[in-house]
Formats: sequence, structure tokens, C-alpha cells
Amino acid sequence: MRITVTGGAGFIGSHTVTLLLEAGHEVLILDSFANAAEDVPDRVAGIAGRHAEVFRADITDPATYNSALADFRPEAVVHFAGLKAVGEAMENPLEYIRVNVGGSVALFQEMAKIGCNRLVFSSSATVYGDPVAVPIDEDHPLRPTNPYGRSKRMVEEVIEDWGRANPALSAINLRYFNPVGAHPSARIGEAPDGVPNNLMPFVAQVAQGVRERLSVFGDDYDTPDGTGVRDYIHVMDLAEAHLAALDLTGAGPGVEALNLGTGQGYSVFEMLRAFEAASDREIPFVITSRRPGDVATSLADPTRAADRMGWRATRDLEDMCRDAWAWQRGRNR
Ligand code: UD1
Repeated sequence: MRITVTGGAGFIGSHTVTLLLEAGHEVLILDSFANAAEDVPDRVAGIAGRHAEVFRADITDPATYNSALADFRPEAVVHFAGLKAVGEAMENPLEYIRVNVGGSVALFQEMAKIGCNRLVFSSSATVYGDPVAVPIDEDHPLRPTNPYGRSKRMVEEVIEDWGRANPALSAINLRYFNPVGAHPSARIGEAPDGVPNNLMPFVAQVAQGVRERLSVFGDDYDTPDGTGVRDYIHVMDLAEAHLAALDLTGAGPGVEALNLGTGQGYSVFEMLRAFEAASDREIPFVITSRRPGDVATSLADPTRAADRMGWRATRDLEDMCRDAWAWQRGRNR
């Protein structure tokens, strides 16, 4: 198939492009490289043994990429491109609306012009907001608690409206829980700019000695060991889910949302210990106050993704830590 991947040089995008190329698809990456290294497409080609086409463009500026898209004639689009830092979104909500919502609408208009009706959208479990019950299934109330989450939900709503107006549209909103890990080759992985916001990349940097110690954001949550519990999912499992979702968009029109998680939760302390084991290093930590906006437990019910796509996460916490550590060590040597 001919597939355009926006944000294809980013963390989840690059892993997905690798698998698409390995599966024999023709891929056009549309990426601004605002938050991705220039050499990612070459690294991906090094793994897959084939190249994706790469077009540098910002999704908010369709005049710069409409001809490239029309020339490529994608049968489907996987849309990752967007901004994703919660704190930044709270400081600059308008920018998150402009890029995440405006950019998506611009992209969808270009898809509509060329008659491309198959879409896989990179959404987030953050659209659920504070869980009223766990595990969280797709019928859980949608009440995002910050502008980043709202921007993701707005795009889902745009897609739902587009589907009501265009009966040929086949779109899947994939709601990721906590993506971690890296490609087992250690040639691609997560490369956060500056101080990582998320637990796993921070822990990896402490293990390597780039940062002194981890701050554990609260040990007084209502969880078995008092620290926050999350549904961490290996990025390779996520990437595989995108291929399954693309297949499902070929089965017929409609718009639906699917959770991508393992259904298994781990606490901050469990993550810490698993990473110590994987890296064979001690990871110093200090308990600090809770991070505003954090919840005690977030956990997916991944049943619907299994029913609809025959997809299940197969990698465990040990795989996640081993691959994240191999990638981290290779980066700053
Ligand atoms: C965060 C985002 C969420 C986004 C997700 C992507 C917030 C409030 N939420 O989720 O919107 O979709 O990342 O993966 O930013 N922790 C520490 N010390 C740290 C970092 C994290 O103790 O230095 C703890 C947190 O309190 C939490 C767990 O580790 O219990 C996971 O945190 P994180 O990786 O930031 O993910 P989320 O908060 O689940």
C-alpha cells in the first residue's frame, strides 16, 4: 500500500515506518523535523533495508506539501505529527490548538481533495482525563484535564464529524497509554529535548549518569506501594498496532477509537527496580511532592483492540527496560 506518515521521524512514527517498510509498503514521511533528528529516516532505512520518501513540511502549512501529497497518492494516512508536552500546552494552549487541531484539519482537507479516505490517528489515553474506573475502556467518559488532552479530543471529534459527512471515511483513533522502550536494534528510540518529562526516559538518563537522581512524584497515592501506577507499552507493540489498524481501515468505512495498552500496570518503584535490573546500575531517587494533574492509577482495558484488530501487546516490562537502556547507552557514548 502507499501510506503517508506525518511525524514519521518521531518516536512512535519512526518505529511504525520501520515496520511498514519491512512489510513492503511504500511510505512517504511528512515531518517538519521540529522534534526529530535529521538522520532518523536513514536509521530507519538501515534497519528496514529500504528507504521511505521524505518530505520536510509542517502540517499547519498545507501549501508547502499539497503537491507532494497529491503526487504520492496515498491510499492511507497515519497521522502522528503534533505537539505533546502537557506543561507547554498549559502555558501556550493557543499554539496547541493551532498545531494539533489546525494542522490536523489542514491535513484532512488535503486528504479530502485527493480522495484519501483511510486514516489512523495518533490519539492518547489522556482524552479520558481522571479515570472514574480502571481499567479504562473506550466507553469511559471523555473529560481531558489539560489543553494537550483537549486538543487530542478535538481532533477525534473533527474526525467523527468528517465521518458523518463522508460515508466513505474509514478512520481509527488510537488512544495510547504510556509508550516506552525502543527498537531492539537500538538504532532508533525516544530522544527528548532537554529534561525529560516522562518517567522512563528520565530513569534511563539517571542510570547513565546524565542526571543525578529521579524525583518520585509522591509515594502517598492509593496504590499498593504508594507511587503512581501506569500502563506502559513497548513502542514496538504500538507500532505493530498501527499496521493492524491500517488493515482494519481496509475492512470498511466508519470511525472508531481503540485503546492501546497492555492492561498491566506498574508503579514508579516497580519501573525503577526493573530498570536497575536491566541496566545493572543503581538508580538514586528522592521522594518529592505529587506532580499537579497526576492520577494514582491509569490502566487500559485493551479488549476492544484485540477483538477488532486481533492485536495484543506481547512485550513485557523487561523487554521495555532492556531496549530503552540499549538505546540510551548508544546515544551518549
Ligand atoms: C504523561 C502525560 C500524558 C501523556 C503521557 C505520554 C502528564 C500529567 N501526563 O502521562 O498526558 O499522554 O505522559 O506518555 O504529564 N513520575 C515520577 N518522576 C518523574 C516522572 C514521572 O515519579 O520524573 C511518575 C508520575 O508521577 C507517574 C509516572 O511516573 O506516576 C508516569 O509519568 P509519565 O511518564 O510522565 O506519564 P503520565 O503522567 O502517565
